[in-house]
Amino acid sequence: MAKINRFAEMLPEITEWRRDLHQNPELLFDCHRTAGVVAEKLKEFGVDEIVTGIGRTGVVGVIKGKSTGSGKVIGLRADMDALPIHETTGAEHASLVEGKMHACGHDGHTAMLLGAAKYLAETRNFDGTVVVIFQPAEEGGGGGKEMVDDGMMDTFGIQEVYGMHNYPGMEVGEFAMRVGPLMAATDQFTLHVEGKGGHAAMPDQAIDTTLAASQIVVAMQQIVARNTDPLESVVVSVTSFETESKAYNVIPQRVEMRGTVRTLTAENRDMAEAAIKRIAEGTAAAYGATVKVDYDRGYPVTSNHEAQTEFVAEIAKEVSGEGMVHTDKPPVMGGEDFSYMLEARPGAFVFVGNGDTAALHHPDYDFNDDLIPVGCSYWAKLTETRMPAG
Ligand code: NI
Repeated sequence: MAKINRFAEMLPEITEWRRDLHQNPELLFDCHRTAGVVAEKLKEFGVDEIVTGIGRTGVVGVIKGKSTGSGKVIGLRADMDALPIHETTGAEHASLVEGKMHACGHDGHTAMLLGAAKYLAETRNFDGTVVVIFQPAEEGGGGGKEMVDDGMMDTFGIQEVYGMHNYPGMEVGEFAMRVGPLMAATDQFTLHVEGKGGHAAMPDQAIDTTLAASQIVVAMQQIVARNTDPLESVVVSVTSFETESKAYNVIPQRVEMRGTVRTLTAENRDMAEAAIKRIAEGTAAAYGATVKVDYDRGYPVTSNHEAQTEFVAEIAKEVSGEGMVHTDKPPVMGGEDFSYMLEARPGAFVFVGNGDTAALHHPDYDFNDDLIPVGCSYWAKLTETRMPAG
């Protein structure tokens, strides 16, 4: 419990950082202020090396242990970006920026990793090197990918990498994880359907684009129902359906539809992409319409490595007690760009309870500051246990 107590002592200070970040949310790669705050604090803590501008606005700090003879180097990652949502929490520390808020708790993730970095730079009670990674653009920009593409893993010699995300609805201190796929691959598509516009009272003179597009929406639901192994998970959601004309008496020439595909395996990902093209083209043709399919692959599956996941489960048990750690968490169909780091190096991603709060990405959501000592303690214990001091 010693470390929890140390972080309980630091709680007011770390809470202050967290709330400052919350008041000053930034989107995607535009995390200049946040990255500046992070770099400045790391400097204050006396970390050995600070590098900014990795993955555009990402920041990396290097902390060497009392000894580094083990040759071990592990990476700990937090995300820094907020969301384009109008905050309605009414909290004293609510967003000062209209239309932007930290609705996913990345303010808390950043503050907890800073807290751990401060402790680790003070105590250095490990044999090896810890690399603290602060990434921009988790919410759709692929900041994690850009940091990996910038050579971060090789530059800092990172051998293993670890990440965490808060989870509303789970008790504070509760941990959940699994070996293998934990979060989905997130792809998106746009379908441009074209028929023949005309007078709504003379449908025989037109090719009804709206009808063809509607049939495509319905037919695409068979990808989950009929093309997917019943014991596996796939999501196909059409989320936008826009006709070219808003008139009551016009059959529109064009309809544009958008949506998302979530999968947990490479096979299902390939299957869903092929099926969308096949079904959209075949269905459009049946109605005399045409369709152009734009399919963009987004984040890959976030897949935990076995040895590292079993290791962090033990760390979580030390932090919170055995009954608070679930190692059989069913996968969630949301995405996470920590997936790119897990493709580059072995590691593990875990969920940690945010208590009974509004859901992630909800305008009433707020990161729960009670979680700070738990998250900091997890990072510190993970580091000291993975690279024990001689
Ligand atoms: Ni998030």
